[in-house]
Amino acid sequence: MISIDKALCINCGRCVESCPMGIFRRGEDERTEVGNEKRCLSCMHCTAACPDRAVRFEGLTDEETYPAPGGDEVARLIQSRRSIRRYKAEPPARELIQSALETAAFAPNAKNRRLCRWTVLYGKEQTDRAVELVLDWARESHKAPELALSVKAGKNPITCGAPCVILCHGPRELGALDGAIAMTTLELLLVRAWLGTCWAGYLTRIADEAPALREWLGIPEGDQICCALMVGYPDGDRYPNIPRRTCTETRWIGA
Ligand SMILES: Cc1cc2nc3c(=O)[nH]c(=O)nc-3n(C[C@H](O)[C@H](O)[C@H](O)COP(=O)(O)O)c2cc1C
Ligand code: SF4
Ligand code: SF4
Repeated sequence: MISIDKALCINCGRCVESCPMGIFRRGEDERTEVGNEKRCLSCMHCTAACPDRAVRFEGLTDEETYPAPGGDEVARLIQSRRSIRRYKAEPPARELIQSALETAAFAPNAKNRRLCRWTVLYGKEQTDRAVELVLDWARESHKAPELALSVKAGKNPITCGAPCVILCHGPRELGALDGAIAMTTLELLLVRAWLGTCWAGYLTRIADEAPALREWLGIPEGDQICCALMVGYPDGDRYPNIPRRTCTETRWIGA
């Protein structure tokens, strides 16, 4: 259960803005409050964003929720990455993205086949057009009705208003793994360059299904779209906290 420590809360609204599931809201008295928690992803964006450490999760101590960050430079980079869902309209320099793509080519890939191809939607005009085509597909196919509702409510989970989206695709034998490894490597390089990123799962899935969108993207016939990443400068303050993330179960075999 999530709660807000009213004694600490300064009512800044950052938890409202940062929660991807719209769980925080302004109450009738204009104070920030917790709404229906059922859809909570446990992503901890609310605790990462709260400048006064007022968000509480039942069963977690303050130290567990807001631990002191540790580790070396690489660990800190990984720990501080969070999905960014609000972007400035100006796209990052092309050279920056191109250089990160060239470095990401050093990522491991099966049999060194190097099958990843990249398509970069550059500029808001392009990314907004992609959203329109996704919504057209959803309307015509009667699928994913939640998308139109979210966009109408001001939360666009397709591109989050990012001015740049990078798609990774390739021939069917590419498989999902190589693409995901390359994209993860690329993401960390972009985060290191102070860019915000968020994986675009909706766009990936729908671009593979929607012929008009595929055609507009110019994805070669036979190519499978592995993954896509929203990219841009974050709009808003950086997250002040690095909340705890639980490590999934690990088994050791051997002494
Ligand atoms: C394959 C994949 C697809 C995703 N698709 C979306 C998406 O379409 N829209 C979105 O807002 N977030 C998307 N996300 C972001 C996840 O919701 C996010 O990574 C998760 O909640 C953990 O939060 P964090 O990235 O801030 O650590 C996706 C993440 C992954 C790995
Ligand atoms: S953990 Fe994530 S989804 Fe849950 S309330 Fe916080 S920000 Fe929202
Ligand atoms: S981010 Fe923290 S201080 Fe700001 S409104 Fe939410 S709970 Fe209150």
